Amino acid sequence: MSRTPQGQRASLDKQPHEVAAMFDGVAARYDLTNTVLSFGQDRFWRRATRAALGLRPGERVLDVGAGTGVSTEELAHSGAYAVGADLSLGMLHAGKRTRPGVPLLAGDALRLPFADASFDAVTISFALRNVNDTDAALRELARVTRPGGRLVVCEFSTPVNPAFRTVYLSYLMRSLPAVARTVSSNPDAYVYLAESIRAWPDQAALAARIGAAGWGRVAWRNLTGGVVALHRAIRD
Ligand SMILES: C[S@@+](CC[C@H](N)C(=O)[O-])C[C@H]1O[C@@H](n2cnc3c(N)ncnc32)[C@H](O)[C@@H]1O
Repeated sequence: MSRTPQGQRASLDKQPHEVAAMFDGVAARYDLTNTVLSFGQDRFWRRATRAALGLRPGERVLDVGAGTGVSTEELAHSGAYAVGADLSLGMLHAGKRTRPGVPLLAGDALRLPFADASFDAVTISFALRNVNDTDAALRELARVTRPGGRLVVCEFSTPVNPAFRTVYLSYLMRSLPAVARTVSSNPDAYVYLAESIRAWPDQAALAARIGAAGWGRVAWRNLTGGVVALHRAIRD
């Protein structure tokens, strides 16, 4: 764990206690910081995630790494029963305060507190990158999904246009930590954010890993030029 006078951030090996402590530190202003740093795009990405899941009223959907429940709340607009799980008690408490109607539980993506085949659909937004064993998390998501059920992974990815990619990477590594210093309760966490996005597999590489973890018919769609990608798959 790196520590500075401003706060703490996880290292890229993403030990669960470090990740949880880092998110505890950003919880108070998480929703606002997200919206500022993404220029408001986060709302569009969440709506697109809900649409990609194709949820129907009465279905059960699990949102892993739900944090403050901002992603879970969006899913509930479909009429499905949406429940969120997260490792950080700080994020969960912030969510309970701001969204008392959203069901949020403590749970680790690598050991979800649900029986096999409990959900019609599962999703994970901006959280798979933070789990220290990506492949095990994808298998665990498959375990709790019924055969034929759907997965949508919403995660930062690689912009497709080379010129835009250069501008974006410069924003990520230089401007984003500077802007975070003015808005976030733990600006150091946003240095980790930039580093972890740079180290994350691109669209095709992530699709291959999803396909190897018990999921079929893997496909993806780029949002905001590939700043974010939505990967969809069906439980084998
Ligand atoms: C960037 S936030 C995303 C929150 C929310 N899904 C959203 O879209 O804004 C990432 C969340 O993943 C959670 N997380 C990281 N590792 C986890 C794990 N192993 N199990 C469950 N949650 C985890 C963190 O605690 C944090 O709340």
